[in-house]
Amino acid sequence: MSQKIKKILAKKNKIKIVSLTAYSKNIAQIIDKYCDMTLVGDSMANVLYGMKNTHKISLNTIIQHSISVRKGIKKSLLVVDMPKGSYKNPIQAKKNAKLIFKKTKCDAVKIESNNKNFKIIKEIRKAKIPVMGHIGYTPQFKSRFKVEGKKQKEARRLIRESISIEKAGAFSIVLECVTPSVAKEITNKLKIPTIGIGSSSYCDGQILVTDDILGLSGFYPKFVKRYANLNTIIEKAVKKYSKEIKTKVFPNKKNFLYGK
Ligand code: KIV
Repeated sequence: MSQKIKKILAKKNKIKIVSLTAYSKNIAQIIDKYCDMTLVGDSMANVLYGMKNTHKISLNTIIQHSISVRKGIKKSLLVVDMPKGSYKNPIQAKKNAKLIFKKTKCDAVKIESNNKNFKIIKEIRKAKIPVMGHIGYTPQFKSRFKVEGKKQKEARRLIRESISIEKAGAFSIVLECVTPSVAKEITNKLKIPTIGIGSSSYCDGQILVTDDILGLSGFYPKFVKRYANLNTIIEKAVKKYSKEIKTKVFPNKKNFLYGK
């Protein structure tokens, strides 16, 4: 097990784990200073590419963004999402996880659970690639958003699913939009850290989509806290730039590279 993974595991029950998404080097180098984990999420499909869901983002696109993100990372654990269709069976999953690992030099891959694909985790682990699980609202397998675990039967299923993911060898697990009581029970039951998104403060750590917390994505559900309004800041800057060109304020002599 790598030192970086050991460090994440050691935080369980001691110190909260901080994670955010990144799709490019420029953002990665900022968040790397304050995050334990950086995820190249397939949420880039909606957030960057304006797709209606995450189903069509390709493995190659995820790899290209991860190569960029890697360049901005010095200390955090780099996790790369395996896109839908890239882990349909254990052989294909292992082959694609190895490809991601080799091309991006990431530290781990993440796969969404459909409550059946535990063998996929085992197979990727055979290649010594650390795997992060993901349960609850899993956009690759669910077409409609819903908070998971409200009914007793569903809560029990989520708890069983998380235990199977731990047993299969995952080093951590994302809990997306599960009820606080389910998040609490899973976090208490598992030895591996739980990372919540919309799943309460009972988790061992938290993750959010960076574009959402910066006010860039236009997607602000209740579980997202907006820490900045970059939309407004960028718009102001672009407006000023446009005005200065039209009024011939920019470029001026200070911006000339040569001569007068
Ligand atoms: O794709 C993503 O950004 C994710 C996080 C929301 C956990 O999977």
